[in-house]
Amino acid sequence: PKRLGLVFAMAEEQQGLTEHLQDVQIHRIGKREYRSGTLWGVPCVCVLSGIGKVAAASTVTSLIQHFGVTEIVLSGVAGGADSSLRVGDIVIADALIQHDMNAFPIFPKFEIPRSGKSRFASSNQLSQQLNLAAQHFLQKEMDQHISAASRTQFKLYQVQIVNGLIASGDQFIQDLKVLANLKQELPDLMAVEMEGAAIAQVCDDFEIPFAIMRTISDEANEHAHLDFKQFIHQVAAQYSLGILRKFCAN
Ligand code: ADE
Repeated sequence: PKRLGLVFAMAEEQQGLTEHLQDVQIHRIGKREYRSGTLWGVPCVCVLSGIGKVAAASTVTSLIQHFGVTEIVLSGVAGGADSSLRVGDIVIADALIQHDMNAFPIFPKFEIPRSGKSRFASSNQLSQQLNLAAQHFLQKEMDQHISAASRTQFKLYQVQIVNGLIASGDQFIQDLKVLANLKQELPDLMAVEMEGAAIAQVCDDFEIPFAIMRTISDEANEHAHLDFKQFIHQVAAQYSLGILRKFCAN
């Protein structure tokens, strides 16, 4: 039977979500609280992983091994890595790469030894479901969930959804030179964050379908930490809740 694992790196990305979880049971494993229950009709386990690849990988391993989840979705924010993207745009990963993995010359740069690959593909089906839910949210529900003041402040007017490559590493990127170097090696890169590719690697090992959805909170430049802070406090959770509600209903 279907059981969805829902992962958030930070509390700000899921604020208010657990109020919608019914028949909740709380389980403590490895200093994390896993909340199992029914979310908008879907059997689900929700958890805050914390930031970074190790935190995400160990959390997802517990979701799979202890809770037997059959699919995993992460919702959160990311730094934009393409000039076509603005704050508030949504990137749904079609593939993920660990930009700080480099065992060259033993293995090609970015390759995860033993897996034989550097890019891990997400589930087409889950990603498409997220895409439809995100379209619905942006077209029909944005105005009711995000205040006019926030829409003005973050210029959330013609928000777009793209599917593309997301890179993860244990590093908050706030330097356009660092971003440009990454972009040179990965020209199709759309967003940078700190968990997605770790989840992808674990899900690949266990053959569990997964999807990663990220809202752009900053442009990975020298203003990134300020933009990021404002965005996660004011907008990030509204995106997560609005889109995941529709995702579960479909
Ligand atoms: N998450 C959100 N913005 C980010 C950035 N600039 N670098 C890494 N992770 C992020």
